[in-house]
Amino acid sequence: VVVPKAVSVEPEEEEVEVDGKTKLTVFFGTQTGTAEGFAKALAEEIKARYEKASVKVVDLDDYAADDDQYEEKLKKESLVFFMVATYGDGEPTDNAARFYKWFTEGKEREPWLQQLTYGVFGLGNRQYEHFNKIGQVIDEQLSGQGAKRLVPLGLGDDDQCIEDDFSAWRELVWPELDQILRNDDDVNTVSTPYTAAILEYRVVIHDPATTTTEEKNLNMANGNVSYDIHHPCRVNVAVQRELHKPESDRSCIHLEFDISGTGIIYETGDHVGVYAENCDETIEEAVKLLGQPSDLLFSIHTDKDDGTSLGGSLPPPFPGPCTLYTALARYADVLNPPRKAALVALAAHATEPSEAERLKFLSSPQGKDEYSQWVVGSQRSLLEVMTEFPSAKPPLGVFFAAVAPRLQPRYYSISSSPRYASDRVHVTSALVYGVSPTGRIHKGVCSTWMKNAVSLEKCRDCSRAPIFIRPSNFKLPADPSIPIIMVGPGTGLAPFRGFLQERLALKEDGIQLGPALLFFGCRNRQMDFIYENELNNFVEQSVISELIVAFSREGPQKEYVQHKMMEKAVQFWSLISNKGYLYVCGDAKGMARDVHRTLHTIVQEQENVDSSKAEAIVKKLQMDGRYLRDVW
Ligand code: 2AM
Repeated sequence: VVVPKAVSVEPEEEEVEVDGKTKLTVFFGTQTGTAEGFAKALAEEIKARYEKASVKVVDLDDYAADDDQYEEKLKKESLVFFMVATYGDGEPTDNAARFYKWFTEGKEREPWLQQLTYGVFGLGNRQYEHFNKIGQVIDEQLSGQGAKRLVPLGLGDDDQCIEDDFSAWRELVWPELDQILRNDDDVNTVSTPYTAAILEYRVVIHDPATTTTEEKNLNMANGNVSYDIHHPCRVNVAVQRELHKPESDRSCIHLEFDISGTGIIYETGDHVGVYAENCDETIEEAVKLLGQPSDLLFSIHTDKDDGTSLGGSLPPPFPGPCTLYTALARYADVLNPPRKAALVALAAHATEPSEAERLKFLSSPQGKDEYSQWVVGSQRSLLEVMTEFPSAKPPLGVFFAAVAPRLQPRYYSISSSPRYASDRVHVTSALVYGVSPTGRIHKGVCSTWMKNAVSLEKCRDCSRAPIFIRPSNFKLPADPSIPIIMVGPGTGLAPFRGFLQERLALKEDGIQLGPALLFFGCRNRQMDFIYENELNNFVEQSVISELIVAFSREGPQKEYVQHKMMEKAVQFWSLISNKGYLYVCGDAKGMARDVHRTLHTIVQEQENVDSSKAEAIVKKLQMDGRYLRDVW
């Protein structure tokens, strides 16, 4: 399902020089808002430094309504920056996907961007195999297509302090831009730190007696047929149950969203984005720290209240009026470590001078190591940090603009097939629950919400959440007789449950199925063998030819899915080399990487080739779309 997105492209000036100023465009590819924030910060500092610059910040998705326009418009640019994040298995963010596909997979182009000078800053995480792949590819392609690189590619690493990486990269940008954009009378040469400006919304307090409640205003536009991240659809939780057995000390929830009558459609293998709410405990803690009544009814506004004002640094305001309680539940990310900009904003509102000093230090270049250790390294949440600085009670306009980032949707691989459950979207969610280095119990926002969700089965006043579908390319082969191998330990099983439901439906329609192996892994049969009965049933129905399970904590030695793959190497490779498809789903940092290595070994042994030849074979499988990964 590709939900068409309304693209609004305003006519804009396309000359390289506008009113004698040099036009400069900062593009962003963002998922959680960091790249967008950096793009805006860069643009603002350019504006502050260079009279001569006319800067625009542009969402890559909004740049052009169709691909031809990308080409036309890019040809007219002279100076651009790309702030682009890399996600999952080396993928672009949703808003950069269309541009990325067009730019990298397009026809072989003669160098056609000679007029263009550019800089790229990538946002990624070194823990992942494809660290900053998107930034790297865009940087290489721009240069390959004739553009001139202004500064070396910036490699932001979210595993450490990405703000510091960004600051360091910007210091490389200024001397270069000075050459192009400096007027002799430009005085502002001192680098203002990224965090210098404190953002603030205008807040309007509403009288509960004269204001209708927020319910009708709920952000979410049901009735709109093209749902997406900005227009999700609020749906009921129809079913919720625990998948782990009572012996387990962990939790994994099976949840079904009721999408009947909403117009939502999905395909097997797609993802669902879920906007969950913070739990009561978290909200109550935040209310206390802010020192305002939880039933305070308020709304927030930017000067330009169209909600989209690109170029301004404020994120679009959330819908209101709503109570402080609701705003904290739905819109505030308070469990992640605060960014430095948040510390600066807190410092500005700390009434206790020693607290203000310490907050300033933590956000300063001198406090870099301390910030890395005390905030990032020890995973101190925003709430924990605010608890340490009780005098810092920012006004709501500052809190929601500069201190607490917007709560982001969480993505899940859908664990059902519409052929089997057209009115339902199933999700399989492991509870994120653990002790942080400071001793805080960290609970994942969305998985905790799902754990506490009340289903329509149990109560008419059931839990509801705004959701939207994110299409994926993790799809079964068009021809069901082609062999498939699925590798999905833990919740990596989710999309395969959808695959198997689809195969069962095909079989019931009399269609001949090809062989299918499923490698599943969990700790212990008595604890976390999720969907065990269903899987056995799929075997009985011959929807799976063989179910191979690795139990990692039953015997004296760890047994993982890749060990089982090795044991089955001959059969494994004979299916894949016979036009078969290989699917891997689950943890990217450990499992998927190890499975990838094992695949490489299997190819080497079974084909009797050296390592580089084996690598080429694996690459070819990937290029042909026969080795697909859905990893996180
Ligand atoms: P473990 O937790 O006992 O190490 C689902 O999470 C299953 O995947 C568990 O049995 C888990 O085992 C296992 N697992 C952990 N790391 C893995 C890896 N690198 N490769 C394959 N399986 C792994």
